[in-house]
Formats: sequence, C-alpha cells, structure tokens
Amino acid sequence: MTLPVYAPTMTNDRYAHRRAEFLDQLGDTIAVIPAGQEQIRNDDVEHAFRQNSDFFFLTGFPEPDAIAVFDPGHDTESYVLFVRERDVEMEAWNGRRAGPEGAVERFGADAAHTIDEFDAWFRKRLRGRTSVGYTLGGSYDARIVQAITSAKASAERLGFPIPASVSDPRHILHEMRLVKSPFEIDALREACRISAIGHREAMKYASPGRTEGQVQAAMEYVFASLGSERVGYGSIVAGGDNACILHYVENDQPLNDGDLLLIDAAAEFHHLTADITRTFPVNGTFSAAQRAVYEVVLEAEQAVIDICAPGLPFTDMHERSVEVLTAGMVDLGLLPGPADEAIAKGWYREFFFHGTGHWLGVDVHDAGDYRIDGKGRPLVSGMAFTVEPGIYVAPEKGSISLSHAEYDADALAVASFELGASKAKADWAQAREDAGMFDFEVPEEFLGIGVRIEDNILITDDGYANLTDLVPVSIADVEALVAERSELPIFG
Ligand code: GLY
Ligand code: MN
Ligand code: MN
Repeated sequence: MTLPVYAPTMTNDRYAHRRAEFLDQLGDTIAVIPAGQEQIRNDDVEHAFRQNSDFFFLTGFPEPDAIAVFDPGHDTESYVLFVRERDVEMEAWNGRRAGPEGAVERFGADAAHTIDEFDAWFRKRLRGRTSVGYTLGGSYDARIVQAITSAKASAERLGFPIPASVSDPRHILHEMRLVKSPFEIDALREACRISAIGHREAMKYASPGRTEGQVQAAMEYVFASLGSERVGYGSIVAGGDNACILHYVENDQPLNDGDLLLIDAAAEFHHLTADITRTFPVNGTFSAAQRAVYEVVLEAEQAVIDICAPGLPFTDMHERSVEVLTAGMVDLGLLPGPADEAIAKGWYREFFFHGTGHWLGVDVHDAGDYRIDGKGRPLVSGMAFTVEPGIYVAPEKGSISLSHAEYDADALAVASFELGASKAKADWAQAREDAGMFDFEVPEEFLGIGVRIEDNILITDDGYANLTDLVPVSIADVEALVAERSELPIFG
C-alpha cells in the first residue's frame, strides 16, 4: 500500500500566537510558568529530559531550569525568560545552552536573564501587580511565596497595591491546549502516521520465539527512523496474559505460539503524541475464544467512533462502550445477564475497568476538563482524543464474586474525594457485602485473554477523522498483515 507523506506546514509562529492569546486571557494577572527539571537516575547520570508540557507549549524552549514570566501589565516586556547562563565548560559536558541572549534572539523573549536573577527581579516586578498566576505544588513554591511575602511587606510600607491573590494559570492554558490549532493537528497527524507505521511493522515482526522486547525494539526503531523524537509514553508490549495488566512495561517475555500480543505504544512528534493499541495473534490466526473476545471489543470501538461528532457529550462515549461491551460479555457467558442488570450493578467492571478514552495532544493524557457543571463536555471541532475499549480476563478470574449493590461511579468518586481512597474503597466493599454477593464461574477458554483496541480521533467541523486507521483492525486485515514478514533483521 502507499503510505501518506508528511507535508509540514508548521511555522515557529505558533508559540508567539499562543503567548499572545495567553497574555490576553490573563487580564491583570502576572503568571509564572517554570520549565521542567532534570531528574537524577544515579550518581551524575540523569533520566532523559523532556520539557514540561505547559512550559513548552508557550515557549518552545527545550532546556531545563528555566522560568517564563507573562506580564500583561508591562508595555514592552510582557514575556520574560529566565534561563541557565552560558558556560563553556558545562556546555562541553552537558550540551549547548541558549543563554539569555539566545532566549531573546531565538525564542522570542522580550527580555531574558539568568535563572539566579529571578527572585530579586520577580519581587520588584510585583510592584503594582495584584494577582499572581502560579500552580502551587511545584518545586518553586517557596521562592514564589517568599517573593510575594516580601513584596507585600514593602507594598504596605510604601502604599502601592499588594499582590493579594494567587490563582492557577493552568485553567487558561489547558483550555488552549484542548482545542488543537492547525499546527498541532498537523503534528498530531504526523505522530499518528509514524506510530501507525511502527505498529504495522511490529505486527509483521512478531512471531513465536521472538520476545516482547525484540518487538518493542523493531517498532521503536521505525518511530525513530521516521523522525519521532521519543516515545509518547513507555511502550506496552504484552504477550499472553500480560495483556491483562493495563500498564505492563517489563516487555521481557518470550512470545508463544497461540498467544495474543497487545501493543499499546506511540511516537511523539514535535511534542505531540499518538496513543495506539492493537491486539493480534502472534502466530497469525485468532483462536475461537480470542476471536470472540476481539469481536466484542471491536464492535464497541466502532460503535463509539461512529457517534463521534461535534456536540456529543464526552461521557456518552463511555456509556456507549459499556453498553456494547457488556452485552457482548453476557452473550459470551463471561457475565450473567441480563445486560442492563450487569451495567446497573457494575459487573462489567470485572473485565473492563478503565475509561473509554482521554484527551490527546502534548501529553498522552492531555490537559482539559472532561465535564462542565458536572455534565459531559460537548465535543467541538479541533478536539483530539482516544477511543479504547478493552476486555481483560485475567487468569485468576475463573470464579468472580458479584454483588447486587447498585454501582454509581460518580457517587464513588465523590466518596473517594471526601473520605480518601482507602476508606471509600472499604465502604464500597461493605456495601457490596450488605447487598448480597454471589459467585459466577467464568468459562475457562477465556482465561488469560486481554484485548484492547485504541484509535485516535480528531473532531472536525462535520464529524470526525480517525487519525490511526492506517493500522488494520478487522480480523481479516489483522491476520493478513501478521502473515507478512518484516524485513528488519533479527540478531543472534
Ligand atoms: N497508553 C496509555 C493509555 O492508553 O491511556
Ligand atoms: Mn490511551
Ligand atoms: Mn494507549
């Protein structure tokens, strides 16, 4: 088949556009957005650095130990960067630095200073500012509080307005991240294209006797060779019943004849990531039980994708997938019926216990509210998200204990918020006991089967685009691709 070609239209203006909008929305708030910090792995070795998503979204500045200040109240310096200073010796060890000069010339700051100048500068800049935008809970808390406290003391003595409130600027920023610009859509499409090609290669590369890690290496080789900077999250390459562990990342087991392989992995491109899952038989042919479970998950996935359109409340997608999955599980004999009782009492959660999707973008679980005033947020053109139903029949689920208690996800979430997770969990376990429990035997042929199918959807003006449909999903197409051989070598 002919694969689509990436035709970039992105320009560096995108950060300037975002800053202008952010500054506009800040009103009279001066906002401080810190960059990410390097994390020590051991001794003098750091984990791979990836910039903080909010910071990068506004600045495009890739280095750690930096702070961006957005001050709509200043005429000529509304965007100021604090960065590491140039240091020939350190740069010879750890890489190039832009320095304050580069921050202005190459990254568009109105002014820039070294990071150690931040505290005194910020305290002074607070004069006349009444509102500070800063996300509490980060490693700069003490310095921000110190600057505000000392500015307040001076303000009271000298009689200028005091910085009286601290608000979280992420509310503005995350709304901006939620609806993708043409630049972001372009990059997201490319992340999806690269990820899809990697998944296709993995399907061809996997075979009995190879290992999860070898398949991961082949797929990530494809990602990198197509220009991806890094993976969007740790690749999940889960053979056999490892697929029943949602965040399985060991990826170190051999692949066996007769097993399914679940791969949840994606490439990041220009700081936007895809998020694709496919599940396929290692030997190229689904067994009857695998096929039966796969068909239910596929039906749910397609049913959810079918209803995607502007105006659909986000929460409707999960409701639809629960309906289809539960009806399918009852038909297969995985759960007792009727399906509406299995939904009302949450029995389906034995085998489907995660959400049906999440926003997608700069982060794999991207920013933005899912509800407005408690109700599912209506989709609008430019939103991107995943659709990812699954069924996971862990080997130890041969017999399951079900309750007659009514399941109310929202009430449980409120209880968890108010009482803490462990007390809420204990209360729910007690409520289940009180309502009466019974055991149910799960057909043995399904034990150890885990299936998830995940595509990436972009809402358009008149419907949706499936950005990841380059990876086959029907049983016939999946089996046909797995039957092809990868040309990538295997060593040893
Ligand atoms: N790969 C993470 C997720 O699917 O949410
Ligand atoms: Mn996902
Ligand atoms: Mn995923």
